[in-house]
Amino acid sequence: MPVVRGKNIEPLYTARQINERNHQIAAEIAKGPADDLLVIAVLKGSFIFAADLIRALHDVGLAPEVEFITLSSYGTGTVSQGVRIVKDIDSDVKGRNVLLIDDILESGRTLKFAKELLYERGAAHVSLAVLLDKKVKRQEQLEADHVGFECPDYFVVGYGMDVAYAFRELPFVGVVTGDA
Ligand code: IMP
Ligand code: MG
Repeated sequence: MPVVRGKNIEPLYTARQINERNHQIAAEIAKGPADDLLVIAVLKGSFIFAADLIRALHDVGLAPEVEFITLSSYGTGTVSQGVRIVKDIDSDVKGRNVLLIDDILESGRTLKFAKELLYERGAAHVSLAVLLDKKVKRQEQLEADHVGFECPDYFVVGYGMDVAYAFRELPFVGVVTGDA
């Protein structure tokens, strides 16, 4: 089992599995509304997934524009949770086909906020691609159009995702199982 920062990390999805899935998702995306596609990666967690997926989009013949938005949730527990824009995109989305890319769809708050924001700004169509879907945690009625893997309710790290700013660099998705 890989050991990083003195912790055992049990791989859940290997680099190879993720790579294969990314190419399948890209082929799905190419069949949807993909004309003049604008991809928006939701930072920070999606940066590696987005980087790989947009190259897979190139492989299936798409030439997307790429933008980034940084979103952050606030409020925990009994305090009602909201989402705020930490850093916005620069482009005008009016009339565009948009693909939002995120690492995990969990409660659905982040992507519901982002999707509604883009429609309010006049996007023609907004679809969602997520690497992982944790369905049991959903609080909002929202489904992704493209899902890498249905993820069990573990806290996962790697492939862009962190716990306390660590482990984003791992080329696979894993679970921290304890001290090595
Ligand atoms: P939600 O769908 O608004 O609840 O937001 C999900 C976001 O929470 C993801 O985009 C991640 O940034 C973060 N997140 C949720 N579960 C995990 C996890 O297991 N590992 C790392 N980050 C997570
Ligand atoms: Mg996130």
